[in-house]
Amino acid sequence: MSLPPRVASLGAVSLFLFGSGLSACSESILNNRAAPATGGGAAVDGGPIPGPVAGGAGGGGSGSLAAAAKASGRLFGAALNAGHLSKDASYKAIAAREFNYAVAEWEMKWDPTEKTDDVYNFTLGDQIADFAEENGMAIKGHTLVWYQATPAWVKALSTPDAVRTAMNEHIDTVVEHYKGRIRCWDVVNEAFDDTPSAAHRDSPFFNQLGEDYIAEAFVRARAVDPDALLFYNDYGIESPGPKLDAVVDLVEKLLAADVPIDGVGFQTHVSLDFPSGVQLAGAMKRITDLGLMVNISEIDVRLGKNGETRDMPTRLDLQAKRYADLVGACMGNELCESITVWGVTDQYSWLNVQDFDWAGPGPHDPLLFSSTYEKKAAYDSTLAVLLGE
Ligand code: G3I
Repeated sequence: MSLPPRVASLGAVSLFLFGSGLSACSESILNNRAAPATGGGAAVDGGPIPGPVAGGAGGGGSGSLAAAAKASGRLFGAALNAGHLSKDASYKAIAAREFNYAVAEWEMKWDPTEKTDDVYNFTLGDQIADFAEENGMAIKGHTLVWYQATPAWVKALSTPDAVRTAMNEHIDTVVEHYKGRIRCWDVVNEAFDDTPSAAHRDSPFFNQLGEDYIAEAFVRARAVDPDALLFYNDYGIESPGPKLDAVVDLVEKLLAADVPIDGVGFQTHVSLDFPSGVQLAGAMKRITDLGLMVNISEIDVRLGKNGETRDMPTRLDLQAKRYADLVGACMGNELCESITVWGVTDQYSWLNVQDFDWAGPGPHDPLLFSSTYEKKAAYDSTLAVLLGE
């Protein structure tokens, strides 16, 4: 199947990312943005993901989640933390063996990279990028513009010009710093709120620039790195509802204005009960029908909820089924280019290290490896779906 017009019409970007043979892209819709010496370049005809994962030292050891995903032309990633990489040998070994796509859970956000106006610190982000490249992994940049992890000095800006200057300089500097290493940027994250109207969230960007800040951010990022894929990323869009409608409307407006956008990330932070794989597949299709790519960008399936009465073995079995169902939704759409779990081990999951009323009592143990680094039933069920079993 040839790619929808939008993806095929990326011009120079599509030639770089998808190679000259568009028909080849339907099997391998991916390309790694920047391949270290181990490989890279245009998509190969029907083969696994070109670039470092094709033969890198890591990024898909035999029998791994990444190797299974690679066979269908996809990436399988994890959110990584620089501190754990440097201090926890088991964490580092599993990250290198199981995944071929790395995203910084925190280290490339605005707060850690530009805490003070025009003073940049890429130390921790570079540690993750270095680890990824050393292990044959592609890299996702997360995230350039978000209402959270935004420094106080940005929140204090009170004129459109000041906010636009700050946003543009941040995007210019961060995207330039990682240029040639980032396969895809989450350019804007979580622009809509959780109210029934799915309104634009309060943020210095929306409050001062209106909704056009989104288009401006995408245009700016493409101008700095014309070869990186540019995605919008959000949660609560994995099933029909006002936020999904708002994101589809946003994407349609961006496309109509020829704003460079290549895809939408479906975070997929979910419970044991909702949403289903069918609902996620339907939601993704609303975006791929517009000619864009999608991905599962931050999946975790939490075990806890307020009022939970099921015993733990039942919940762990259900968790495995939920991962299989949701990952299956991505596998069923050839424009779903990657799946990323939001962490390596339950031990460090954001849902286990913090308490959230909305999530109910933990431990949530939402990931594929236990706190003692054992493969869980969810690992096995995910691997089976990736292998098409
Ligand atoms: O490690 C630093 C420490 O050195 C510093 O002194 C301290 C100052 O606040 O911050 C520490 O960093 C923490 C960071 O996680 C690393 O552990 C931050 O406080 C903490 O806010 C940050 O939380 C992250 C959160 O995003 C906010 O950036 C979570 O780990 C991360 O899982 C979460 O991920 C988000 C996605 O980006 C977007 N989608 C939702 C998802 C879950 O909230």
